[in-house]
Amino acid sequence: MQHSRITARESINKVGEDVILKGWVDSFRKHGNVVFVDVRDRSGLIQVVFSGDLLEEAGKLRPEFVVEVHGAVSKRGERYFNPKLETGEIEVQAKKLIILNKAETPPFPLDTDGHEIDEDLRLKYRYLDLRRSRMTKNIRKRGEVTQFIRNWLYEHDFIEIETPVLTKTTPEGARDFLVPSRKQPGKFYALPQSPQQYKQMLMVAGFERYFQIARCFRDEDPRADRAYGEFTQVDMEMSFVTQNDILELTETMFTQLVETLFPEKRIKQKPWPRIPYKEAMEKYGSDKPDLRDNKDDWDELAFAWIIDFPLFAEQSEDDYFYGSGEAKYAPSHHMFTAPHPDDIEMLDKDPLKVRGLQHDMVLNGSEVGGGSIRIHDAKIQEKIFDLIGFTKQQKAQFTHLLEAFTYGVPPHGGIAPGLDRFLYRILGETSLREVMAFPAQASGQTAVMDAPSEATKEQLEELHIQVVKPTD
Ligand code: AMO
Repeated sequence: MQHSRITARESINKVGEDVILKGWVDSFRKHGNVVFVDVRDRSGLIQVVFSGDLLEEAGKLRPEFVVEVHGAVSKRGERYFNPKLETGEIEVQAKKLIILNKAETPPFPLDTDGHEIDEDLRLKYRYLDLRRSRMTKNIRKRGEVTQFIRNWLYEHDFIEIETPVLTKTTPEGARDFLVPSRKQPGKFYALPQSPQQYKQMLMVAGFERYFQIARCFRDEDPRADRAYGEFTQVDMEMSFVTQNDILELTETMFTQLVETLFPEKRIKQKPWPRIPYKEAMEKYGSDKPDLRDNKDDWDELAFAWIIDFPLFAEQSEDDYFYGSGEAKYAPSHHMFTAPHPDDIEMLDKDPLKVRGLQHDMVLNGSEVGGGSIRIHDAKIQEKIFDLIGFTKQQKAQFTHLLEAFTYGVPPHGGIAPGLDRFLYRILGETSLREVMAFPAQASGQTAVMDAPSEATKEQLEELHIQVVKPTD
């Protein structure tokens, strides 16, 4: 007799032995004098058969009750094999049942794919929604993908370094989240839109190959492919590299990842096509074209690189962050992207014609990553600041970076594939939220926890903050 609990999957190798299972009641069926219960644990489902003396106790079971079952593993008769279950050739003849905890009836079914249920309700009870097998699979896959990337990068001489979350604005084109400082009344931290400036300073520090599974914060309206509030990047930076080095390394990593973790998928073209921005716009009318042969086939993966983006776009009203109102240009990626060496002369004459050393990683019609070779010349960085209309005061916000660049900065560049965006595409999901454990709702309300919420009078006083409620 085994005394410690084993999982459903481990039971496969225990035919003829007594085992202890613990888990949740997934479903049950009564057949005359027998009750069949599917017990679910982290490894999957297993069928437990109750009969005889145990029938009365088994009759009390309801879905989602938490149970401990002692019983004997046996092989099912061949005609009772269930090919849909990993444990479909065995079952457990129960000898003892302990109800560890009862459960209320869940507010929605857990045995469907969940798409039919109101999303706000799913997010309110996310801990239950995550029990549905589609969500469990997505979240587990996410963990496997993260682990693969982490191992792969360590094997390729990268080091993982954490950078601050309470920091200063890191402009990536969205609004910042601000956090008030108690120690310095009237001042605010900004949550990073990405670790961009820190990773560049880590190159000055000499680490040469950095990565971080980094949480990024952007206050922008959500869409199917854009999370509200926070999301995760596989943030990478390397010194002494060309753009080609970055593309090749990233491509190799993702190709191996797909072949290892998603063997059922096919990469349409290897090496991935590299398409200049102009050509992409002319040919496909998009800088993130969906190059699949069959646009409904999510097992087909059409990766592509888009390169040679214009360094600048005309400034629009959304570019409130940049310029003093007189400047005409906004960076099309971000202000640290290096101009193409062949186009530097045009910076003065015709900035809109200058190409940047930017690269976007595209998968099945989504931009899943972006990066560039960075400016490592303080003079060029100043010129870019002028072109985007930075005032002296705005430039002063970045003196730390320019100063760092005076102490021996290596040429460097990097990329940041979005982890959520990549999973959303590779799993063929309907929204990014389907690959995040606790995403926020479109309104900005967090899943399960009631945030944002009001601060107490004492908290506000301590922070020297007065709240002026909008009058509408
Ligand atoms: P960028 O702003 O292009 O570049 O972001 C890189 C990748 O991050 C993901 N991403 C998002 N994912 C979910 N929700 C969002 N709101 C969201 N915004 C961006 C996308 C995108 O391709 N610091 C640079 C990277 C670099 O230059 O190395 C940056 O953040 O997958």
